[in-house]
Amino acid sequence: MTAEIISGTALRATMLAELHDEVTTIRSRHGCVPGLVTILVGSNPASVSYVSLKIKTANSLGFHEIQDNQPEDITEAELLALIDRYNNDPSIHGILVQLPLPRHIDATKVLYAISPEKDVDGFHPVNLGRLLIGGKAVNFLPCTPAGIQELIVRSGTETSGAEVVVVGRSNIVGKPIAVMMGQKGKGGNATVTLVHTGSRELGAHCRRADILIVAAGVPGLVKPDWIKPGATVIDVGVNRVGFNEETSKPILSGDVDFEAARQVAGKITPVPGGVGPMTITMLMKNTIRSAWLHLRP
Ligand code: GUN
Repeated sequence: MTAEIISGTALRATMLAELHDEVTTIRSRHGCVPGLVTILVGSNPASVSYVSLKIKTANSLGFHEIQDNQPEDITEAELLALIDRYNNDPSIHGILVQLPLPRHIDATKVLYAISPEKDVDGFHPVNLGRLLIGGKAVNFLPCTPAGIQELIVRSGTETSGAEVVVVGRSNIVGKPIAVMMGQKGKGGNATVTLVHTGSRELGAHCRRADILIVAAGVPGLVKPDWIKPGATVIDVGVNRVGFNEETSKPILSGDVDFEAARQVAGKITPVPGGVGPMTITMLMKNTIRSAWLHLRP
């Protein structure tokens, strides 16, 4: 039996329709239009492409969207001043600085300068601290982990009591999703193991997983015999393994050997079309949440 495909593309469509309704509600009830600024420094092609998709999605939801493109040679001080301006702009609820930044700018300093109340990426230490505390303390979940949890829950995979193995310990994906899956509440309550490049017996850990989340950035790392039959497999890897001359687009591959894995897994996300489409969707969700939070007295 082959695995059920968990489609991020389909879930994105469902969630964007839900978010569109929420924008209508907040506008009609409170006269509030969610505002998002995307700050892009320079013209890295991948960043240009990501940012244009974020802008297109924000516009499709009826957001107030500011596209703030800055030259490659902007100084760190100028960028910090720009962020300060948006921190104090009441029409803006979310500030997104696209990464990576040029080498002469300290990205950590820039991300920490964004007001935690407008940090819709969920990268600020205040928001990561709130995530660690959990429950009502949570402000903004980082977008990729939030998308992963949404895919798991809406695919009907039971998380309570499940063995979850997370491969990879990045601040953006591995560490936050491991915490989120272990928290009390919906989509959590799992027993979590976090494995990484320093772990012995990677395969043995993965084989125990009812839910295997792989965010290692190594194409084809997870072999079919690392997967427990019937497990739910979430592949976060987006590896460029070639270039398609006909479509002029990169050829993408995940961290899981997809064709082999789908013969063993119960449910699996494809690459592309799995986790990827969820990240921008959750950014939009965070921006609307921020707009609601800003309405509070
Ligand atoms: N660059 C690649 N992914 C992301 C993301 O999720 N947020 C930001 N700000 N930059 C990125």
